[in-house]
Amino acid sequence: MNRPLLLVAAALFVAAAPLAIAQAAKPALYTDAQATAGAQAYASSCAACHGAQLEGVAAPALKGAPFGEMATAQSMTAGALLDVITNTMPQSDPGSLKPEEYAAVTAYILQQNGYPAGTTALAAGSAAAKDAKVMP
Ligand code: HEC
Repeated sequence: MNRPLLLVAAALFVAAAPLAIAQAAKPALYTDAQATAGAQAYASSCAACHGAQLEGVAAPALKGAPFGEMATAQSMTAGALLDVITNTMPQSDPGSLKPEEYAAVTAYILQQNGYPAGTTALAAGSAAAKDAKVMP
């Protein structure tokens, strides 16, 4: 490799390193299958109040900066988010979803906030979710 190319390669490597660290800060807490199931459950049970794009309509947004600020203010973890949703939502009929539907809908919200899918399913009381802060 000639010298200018080597310098470009080195510069790219240095530029990419912080990006990789920033992404690693959001752990994998759910599976792809959960997020897919969650998208459907969200559409039928949550979208009417929170918006089809989680943008917030009659109820607060569930993604982006406003949601991130709310989560940060509460030091909310993914486990706490699942608990809050399970215990209080849908506001019109709390507790009306099955536990696996609540986990799936929470997985979908995490996915929409930039959390990656992994190999372990999100479940109430899971240790990884208990320690993972929800952030914008
Ligand atoms: C009938 C309307 C309605 C439906 C349906 C509904 N919500 Fe909500 N939700 C609200 C309102 C209003 C608030 C804000 C007041 C509160 O925190 O209780 C809220 C708050 C929330 C919060 C806390 C957000 C914050 O900023 O504090 C989450 C998370 C949430 N909802 C998730 C869901 C999920 C997931 C579903 C579907 C299973 C759902 N909601 C269905 C009306 C609704």
